[in-house]
Amino acid sequence: MTIRRIGILTGGGDCPGLNAAIRGIGKAAIHGHDLSVLGIRDGFQGLIEDNVSPLEMGDLSGILCRGGTILGTNNKCDPRKYLNPRNPQTAEHEQSGKPIFVNAVDRCLATIERHEIDVVFIIGGDGTFECAQPLVEAGVRCIGVPKTIDNDITGTELTIGFTTASRVGTMALDRLHSTADSHHRVMVCELMGRNAGWLALSSGLASGSDVILIPEIPFDLDAICAFVEERRLGHSGFSIIACAEGAKQIDGNQILADIDPTNPHPIRLGGIGEHVANEIHSMTGIDTRTTVLGHVQRGGEPASTDRVLATVMGTTAVELAMAGSFNRLVTLEDGSINSQDIALAASGQRLVPLDHRLITAARAVHTCFGD
Ligand code: F6P
Repeated sequence: MTIRRIGILTGGGDCPGLNAAIRGIGKAAIHGHDLSVLGIRDGFQGLIEDNVSPLEMGDLSGILCRGGTILGTNNKCDPRKYLNPRNPQTAEHEQSGKPIFVNAVDRCLATIERHEIDVVFIIGGDGTFECAQPLVEAGVRCIGVPKTIDNDITGTELTIGFTTASRVGTMALDRLHSTADSHHRVMVCELMGRNAGWLALSSGLASGSDVILIPEIPFDLDAICAFVEERRLGHSGFSIIACAEGAKQIDGNQILADIDPTNPHPIRLGGIGEHVANEIHSMTGIDTRTTVLGHVQRGGEPASTDRVLATVMGTTAVELAMAGSFNRLVTLEDGSINSQDIALAASGQRLVPLDHRLITAARAVHTCFGD
């Protein structure tokens, strides 16, 4: 088939490097293949609401180093379960008290047809690719580019945004060291990552955190307390704990910050850092403090590694489309750029294997995982 016009969409939570990926796709398409490029606004909502406009070379200049996404994004919009965000209080909602989701896949298909979009480039995470599945099944030609600070997309060992977020986490943990040392405190830092521990593990390892708590290894508070007590009595006197927001106690549940019924994926994690700090204080008497990094990890300019990854992945995505290889996700496997069926990315999260080299390296330098 001949490709004349493409659309680009960013879905899910934003992260550093999205603009670099948009630029990579857009410039390769315009400059290399003379295609026209449309920007789809605010993720799938742009397809549902027909909010689509041309992206010219000028729009793609000067965005390589900018955080966020010039297209806007949305982590609440699933075409299979759509709730108009501008009017969630529909008459039905008022009557039942529950949000009414509608299937808006046909509206996406109509927008794609109306604008004669031959290929949709989707820059997203596992949730975004799950949302894209009905479009793929309906015959839309899609190419995926993986992004998320959580680094949890099945089939790729690295996602756009992760390295920058890990640097922010590392910097924060580094900075907690001196104040923890001065006050002989236990400092708990809660990092994002949803159900995967990659971000806390990588930032914790890079900063030399004493304890790293990740969802994949449920923790025992007694073990953590024994470890920080030993450090208090030893030459260090303080401890730094890198705690993933999805970490949980053995036989315990994850702690939720919020449940949003208007979101098709309603759970928002948060609060485990404070819980761990409070428990350590009451069990040992050691002075503890908590820092929640939150969206600081997602904002700001991308590190050079993310700019490079986004440019390589974005331009590879265009090459795949021009070669007629559709419904693929660009991946990084064993350090090389590759691709896989986009459906695999929607099949589940990539969690940290318990024998992963980052865990064995951390254990080798006497890091406690609370187990
Ligand atoms: O998936 C990216 C992520 O930042 C997670 O690490 C975090 O749990 C979630 O998104 C936060 O979402 P929101 O921006 O809706 O608060």
